[in-house]
Amino acid sequence: MAPANPIEALLNEHSYIIKVVKALEVIGHDIEAQATIDEALLSRIIAFMREFTDVYHHAREEKLLFPIIVRDCPPEIDNLVSTLLDEHNRGRNLVKLLEKGIERSKSDFAIGSEVISAAINGITGLYPKHISQENDMLYPMAEKLLAAGELDCLWEDFEAKGAYTGIHEKHKAFALDLEKRFGKL
Ligand SMILES: [Fe+2]
Ligand SMILES: [Fe+2]
Repeated sequence: MAPANPIEALLNEHSYIIKVVKALEVIGHDIEAQATIDEALLSRIIAFMREFTDVYHHAREEKLLFPIIVRDCPPEIDNLVSTLLDEHNRGRNLVKLLEKGIERSKSDFAIGSEVISAAINGITGLYPKHISQENDMLYPMAEKLLAAGELDCLWEDFEAKGAYTGIHEKHKAFALDLEKRFGKL
């Protein structure tokens, strides 16, 4: 069922991001224990993190939700928003590092797998906390402080901006597949 408001939509997206991040944690342990890399799977996860987490989800936050929060909520919230924006950048850099590690592992497996592990540890350390801060602090504050009309406008913007791509549905299905493959995440 379609979410009733933009905050519910973002919460729903977080649930898919967490599935992939938790699977990545298991994959990271497997790489360390078995000394093998499933390059195709990691590349698919990179596509998810770029196309779903960043281009789709982060963009909704950065271009649509955060500016309204900064404009309408008390100034104390500005620090939290700038921390969250920094974390989005850290996430992007960690995904780039993961990609570099895969490339490096082709010529030097030991160094490449170390880079991959560092990237995975960074991602799995960053996202659960980032998402908790949004779920437990930022989003409830936005729901409380933004007028109902503003949430409705935001939802319309989400719909308009999301309409040009169905790619997020493919990524949600991938996250569910990972959940099945790696057990209850
Ligand atoms: Fe975020
Ligand atoms: Fe988020």
